[in-house]
Formats: sequence, structure tokens, C-alpha cells
Amino acid sequence: LIEKKIDDLMSKMTLEEKVGQMNQYNGFWDVTGPAPVGGSAEQKYENIKKGLVGSMLTVRGVKEVLAVQKIAVEQTRLGIPLIIGFDVIHGYKTLSPIPMAEAASWDLDAIEKSAQVAASEAAASGINWTFGPMMDISRDARWGRVMEGSGEDPFLGSKVAVARVKGFQGDNTFSSPLRIAATAKHFAAYGFVEAGLEYHSSEIGKNTLYNQVLPPFEAAVGAGLRSVMTSFNTVNGIPASGDAELLRGILKDKWSFSGFVVSDWASIREMIPWGYSENDAAAAKSAVEAGTDMDMEGGIYLPQLINLVKDGKVKESFIDDACRRILRVKYELGLFDNPYKFLNEKRELEQIGSKANHDAVLDMAKKSIVLLKNEKSLLPLKKSGQKILLLGSLAESKNSPLGSWRIAAENNSAVSVLEGMRAYKGNNLQYVKGLDLTTKEPSFLTEVDYNLNDKSGFEEAKKAAKDADVVVMVLGEHAFSSGEARSRTDLDLPGLQQEFLEEIYKINPNIVLVLNNGRPLTINWASKNIPAIVEAWHLGTQSGNAIAQVLYGDYNPSGKLPMTFPRNVGQIPIYYNHYSTGRPVDKDNNVFWSHYSDSEKTPLYPFGYGLSYTTFQYSDLKINKNSFKKGEKVEVSITLKNTGKYEGKEVVQCYIHDAFASVARPVKELKAFELVNLKPVETKVVQFTLTDKELGFYNNNGDFIVEPGKFKIMVGGNSVDLLSTEFNLVE
Ligand code: IFM
Repeated sequence: LIEKKIDDLMSKMTLEEKVGQMNQYNGFWDVTGPAPVGGSAEQKYENIKKGLVGSMLTVRGVKEVLAVQKIAVEQTRLGIPLIIGFDVIHGYKTLSPIPMAEAASWDLDAIEKSAQVAASEAAASGINWTFGPMMDISRDARWGRVMEGSGEDPFLGSKVAVARVKGFQGDNTFSSPLRIAATAKHFAAYGFVEAGLEYHSSEIGKNTLYNQVLPPFEAAVGAGLRSVMTSFNTVNGIPASGDAELLRGILKDKWSFSGFVVSDWASIREMIPWGYSENDAAAAKSAVEAGTDMDMEGGIYLPQLINLVKDGKVKESFIDDACRRILRVKYELGLFDNPYKFLNEKRELEQIGSKANHDAVLDMAKKSIVLLKNEKSLLPLKKSGQKILLLGSLAESKNSPLGSWRIAAENNSAVSVLEGMRAYKGNNLQYVKGLDLTTKEPSFLTEVDYNLNDKSGFEEAKKAAKDADVVVMVLGEHAFSSGEARSRTDLDLPGLQQEFLEEIYKINPNIVLVLNNGRPLTINWASKNIPAIVEAWHLGTQSGNAIAQVLYGDYNPSGKLPMTFPRNVGQIPIYYNHYSTGRPVDKDNNVFWSHYSDSEKTPLYPFGYGLSYTTFQYSDLKINKNSFKKGEKVEVSITLKNTGKYEGKEVVQCYIHDAFASVARPVKELKAFELVNLKPVETKVVQFTLTDKELGFYNNNGDFIVEPGKFKIMVGGNSVDLLSTEFNLVE
């Protein structure tokens, strides 16, 4: 039915109007890229009136959206509504934790709910389409955008991607005005930019492309995802916005993706400085032929494609295909039935910032926290009878916990750690700043200026530390140290924080280090010396409440790292699903084996790692048979027991290793997991079913194959501490 409506509409459209649908302008907020090139505000308005604009981004709020939508619907020849896009990355006004933190929960229901809350607030604000979820697999913590993803693993990354798509899009009917279209970004291999350097090139082999980078995108397309964004990088020398093999070959043909592809901000134009396109016309031609349907703020499709088609240099069928895809999503969203469907001021007031939304993001925030170390039973803190000293300016910050990518949220709207802990009335809490993390409040548009000189608060902090039973230090990165354009070469605690930590440690070693950061950090010294370490990321609006509930034991942490923590930057890329080597161990007591001369080669904290206030014991790993035919189900079971004093949750993780294959397989690959809640002494038999889907892999032609041979199965609470067994797969 929709296709018929599109046929009718397109039969009335001029070439200019069809290309107009492929043109997207930024609204009034020109900060996510270089100075706007799409045109001045006046030109943009004029072009909307002429039917030469298909979409706008970053226009938000019922009033603003209504203003532009009315022009498109009431003043253009055909009245085609705009589709309004926005970066709803981890919430709209009520913020969830940054995506990397959410992935640490391994709680797919909570992640779906979090995306649903984000969708409901954005939709109530007039937005129809989000530029998320980001599903770039990355092994490089130097890259600032790891905060937006789900870490290093394609299996976890795929599950999280699908949960988020469901949260944004619901059942894909868009019958509710509170669901919006999702975007899988960035297609592809943006997480593999060389040296973690932003906007850089990715040189990536087929094996990694098919088995690591593409699976989350394929899973999201399978879940009904409606749009895909190209990435800024080149992939093996081809800019992603002009990569026909990826966009047309794999996404549109092989995966039968029926939604549309949007470029990243001016990324079609950037094909010129990349040295791939000679001029605007060449860039437009390559991008449209490759399969990029919409030009984000590039101002390049609109003039160029019209001329290229008229001159016979680009086939009109490419324009028709792109226009059809964009119109299809507009129809599916219900914008043709009612272009003002998302525009209701009463709903806007009711939905945004509701109590239910705050409850949901608090729940998500608690579940995202990872306990990295807890010696001397320092945690949980006692609610009374203990003198607790809180240190560090991040503890009072109401801004940094919001994380990067929070365009619509009010500055300083997070609950700080100080506020969260103070809510535990009756406890003996003293706060001393001790160290200002930065010289001025950082912003999304500038580099973070860490304090490198001012130690004037150290003495007061040291004096207070003498008297404390426990010192809670909130240290890490300011939120704007991660995110887009925030690559770093040094992952130690920035500024004076390491020195501050060591000075306080000399006075009082009973330290609980609460980390706020958007990426794995190199915290070797802390991990050796500090008895308790809590990874609390940037947890969004309810951050301080979530942290306080974990510190005081009202919530037992259960998060597990979605990305390896290296010992030092030199180990990067370090990831759990690496390949073996011909010389994996030191057999002959000489130096000629795969190792570093100056560092361990193991991670500081491995993928999947995280503690609880209780302890778990794994036993009795079994497989129902030791030989299987292809196509048969492999049933794996393991017994999990809560051997500690607290009720708690454990993420039980199941890994495989395909021992011999026509393309060597990684030493471990996550293939299943379950989040299990157990009371003290309680036991549960956890079961996993593995099928060909989990046992196979993509060969270097991109074909999915399942090969017979020996498989190892490993189950445990992280990617290192595992019980194992084996089976054979036969033809
Ligand atoms: O969605 C983003 C993208 O991830 C990076 N460049 C700008 C886009 C729109 O803001």
C-alpha cells in the first residue's frame, strides 16, 4: 500500500523535488561539524518553501518543529512533510548513562527501556528520528567515541544494538506517537580509525570487517531498523559515504535494507579533502551511486545531482531509489497521515522529565556500575558510625555526570555524588573539594582544560583525610574528554589527579576510588594500591543517586566491562577475542615468544570483568553430548551458586573457541550470556543453547560457514576465569 502511495506521489514530483527530499539541513545549532555549508538561515527557509528540503536536524521542541513543518506542509507545492532528526544518544532531557556504561549492565531489558524513555521524550518534543544507536565496535580506548558504543565485542554489541532499536522503534509500526525511527551508525569501521585518531582512516581486513564490524549492523537491520548513517572515515581507501560495496552491495542488496542511508555531517563533501573526489559534482555522483540517500548539511546534493542527471552523468534511477526510501520512512512514521502527529504541547509537558522517566534512568544507572576491586570489605560503606570523607571536584559536579552528547539536557541537571550521598541522612559525611579538576567549566565546543598547577586544596584534603575512616575520591575524566573529536594519547587520570590520589593515600589508604570516565583508563597504580575501585562512568541525570545506592549497599553492583582496560597505552589495541600466535607461551625459557619486554601482555581488567558484594561459584560445566552433527543444538549447562552474604546478580558468560578452521578463529568468542539473580546460598543451573549461528563464522568472501572440528566451550563470570570443556562437530 505504501509503495503505491509513493508511486503516485513520485509521479507528480519534479527532479528538483526528488533531490530536495535528499537534502537535509541543520537547524539552529551549528556545532556538530564545521561551519554550516548547507546555506544561510534565509536560504534554508527559502529552500524549504520551494520543496527542496527533505529533513532537518537539531530543530527541537514542539514550537520550533511546528514552525518548520508548517512551511513544508502548507507552503510547498506537494506538502511533503519533513522528517526531523536529532542526536538522542543517551536520553533527551532525562539522561541515561552513556551508551558504553549501559552496555556494562548486560541487561537488555533495561537498555531497551532506556531507549524507549529517550524516544518518548524526543518524540514528545517533535522529533521523529534519532541518530542512534551507535554500534561501532572498537578496540581502541584512545578513540573518544567509544563512550557512544557498546565496546569491543560484536555479540554483546549486536544484542545491545537490537535492544536499542526496539526501544526507539517499538514494534516498528509507529502506531504510537512516542516511538521514533532509529539509525545504525557509523557505517562502517569508524571504531577502527588508525591510532584512535578521530576522523582518520580505517585499514581493515575482510576477516575483521565481516566478523567484528558488520554483525551489529546486520542484527539491527534484521530488527527493522529504518536508517543507517555513513561514517567519516575511509575503509581501505574508500570514503564510507562513497563505498558502493558496503552501502549497495552489503547493506541494501545482501541484507535487503529497505530504509534510507544518511551521510554524516558534510561527509559527502569531505570526500574532496580525502583526495577521493575531484570536486563537488564528483563527490555527489560517487555518493549517490554508492547508495548514500541523504546529504546531511553538506549542501552538495541539491545543486549537483540535478545538473548531473540533466547532463546524463547520473542515472535518474539512483535519485528515484533514494527518494523512494526517504518517502517510505516518512509514510511508515505516519507523517503523511498527520504531519503534526508528534506535535502536541500538552504531551510535551507531560512526557519530558516525568517521574517514571527519572525512575527508569536511575535503574539503568545503578545497573551500569562496575565494581573493579573491593578489598578489606571497604564497601559497602556503613550508613552510620563511620566517618566518611568525600574528595574531588567531580563529586560536586552536576554537569560532568551528564556525559557527552546531551544536546537537549539542561546544563548542571545531574544529581551529583555529593547530593546523592547527602540524601543518606544520618551518616557522617564530610566533603572537601581538595582538587579542581579543570580550570574552567568545559563545554562541548572546546578542549577540556585540566588543572595542571593548582594544588592549593591538597593540604585541607590531607588534614581531613587523617580523621576519616574511609575516603571516597571521585576522579576520572570530565565528560567532554570523551565523545566526538576527543581522541587522547594518554589514558592516565588527567591533570593533577594521580598526584592527589597518591598524596591522600600516604595519609589514609582506606580509599574508595569512584571513577567517572567515558572510556577505559590506565589505572595501574590505583589497581595495585587502592583497596576499592568503582567504575561509575558518566551515569546521566540520576548519577549521584545511583552511585550513593551502590556505595551504601542498597544496590549490589553487577556490571561487567564491555571493553578491556589496558595496563598502558602501548598495549592498545588490546581485546579479549584476539587471535592466537604461533608462539603463544614461553616454552623454551627464551625470549622468542609473543610478549612485550617491558610490560605484561594481559589486560589490567579483562572484558566481561566485574565484582559483586557477594561471591559466586561456578561448577559442573556440562554439554549434553561430546559429538554433534551440523544443525544439531549444543546444550550447555553450568551450576552457579551464590556463596556470599548478599543477594546479587551475575552475568554468566559463554564463550567458544573453534580449534581449527579454514580461517584461524579467535582464542575466545562470546556466544551467549545470562543475567542471573541469586539469594545467598541459592543455586541455579544455567543453560545455553548453541546452534550453527553461534558456531559458524564469515570467511573472507563474506559467506557464513560452519566447519566441522573440535570446539572448546568456556563458561564463567568474565573472559578470563572460565571453566571449559570440548566437543566435536561432524558433517
Ligand atoms: O549524528 C552525528 C554524528 O554521529 C557525528 N556528526 C554529526 C551527526 C549529527 O549531529
